[in-house]
Amino acid sequence: MDKKLIVANWKMLPNTLAEAQEILELVNDYLESIGEKKEFSLVFCPPFVFLEGVGRILKNSHLAHGSFLGAQDIAIDDGGALTGEVSGPMLRKLGVEYVIIGHSERRWKLAESDEMINKKLKSALRNELIPIVCIGEKSRDSSFKEFLEQQIETTFKDLSSDEIGKCIIAYEPVWAISTNPGAKPDTSANALESISIIREHLNLKFKIKNLKFLYGGSVNSQNISDFIKEKEINGVLVGGASVNKEEFVRVLRHIT
Ligand code: PGA
Repeated sequence: MDKKLIVANWKMLPNTLAEAQEILELVNDYLESIGEKKEFSLVFCPPFVFLEGVGRILKNSHLAHGSFLGAQDIAIDDGGALTGEVSGPMLRKLGVEYVIIGHSERRWKLAESDEMINKKLKSALRNELIPIVCIGEKSRDSSFKEFLEQQIETTFKDLSSDEIGKCIIAYEPVWAISTNPGAKPDTSANALESISIIREHLNLKFKIKNLKFLYGGSVNSQNISDFIKEKEINGVLVGGASVNKEEFVRVLRHIT
């Protein structure tokens, strides 16, 4: 079995590096206890201000093997005048290897346009960061398939098949994200259907077959097994449950 990829999207939490360290220490203790039996790789995506500190903690622990640093966002340009932004070269210097692109909170709460997301995706690729590209419908209504196809076209606009092949796609239905009103996790059957729609559309438009897919949206220790058991789902993107240290370790226990 391929190792599953578990991406912890901490969003705007925790509040301090000390709390981040507590999460990492508990995960580290768990990894130490299971030794070689680890069936997953981890990506931690802390807020920008903790990237350096989290990177340092990862290097000096069991997490050094099979754990990676990810950013939650990236600037469209590599340098210059862009107030408030963090560039790809800066992220690289901090040891960042992955970057989340087009998260629905950026698309919908921060009104990030498809054009902007496309530029950020190009920035990640230009800087040799692995993009974790979020794709997902706002509601699973009769037009959700067209919605997904449209989002794919704008997100990946002007990219080559080789470039798209370097991306990991996170299927994250917006309605399933734990902090959204009335959220509930998707079923694995629905997630597989959506992943197959995305895969087929990318194959049709860009001739790409071997993409890796994550599922995200209210993943926790109760439901992770449903998703992870599917061979078409290469891992999960975990938000809320990844900043609750005991719960995150419970999530990992289901994969080992
Ligand atoms: P959630 O968040 O696990 O809290 O639903 C997932 C995400 O937004 O990436």
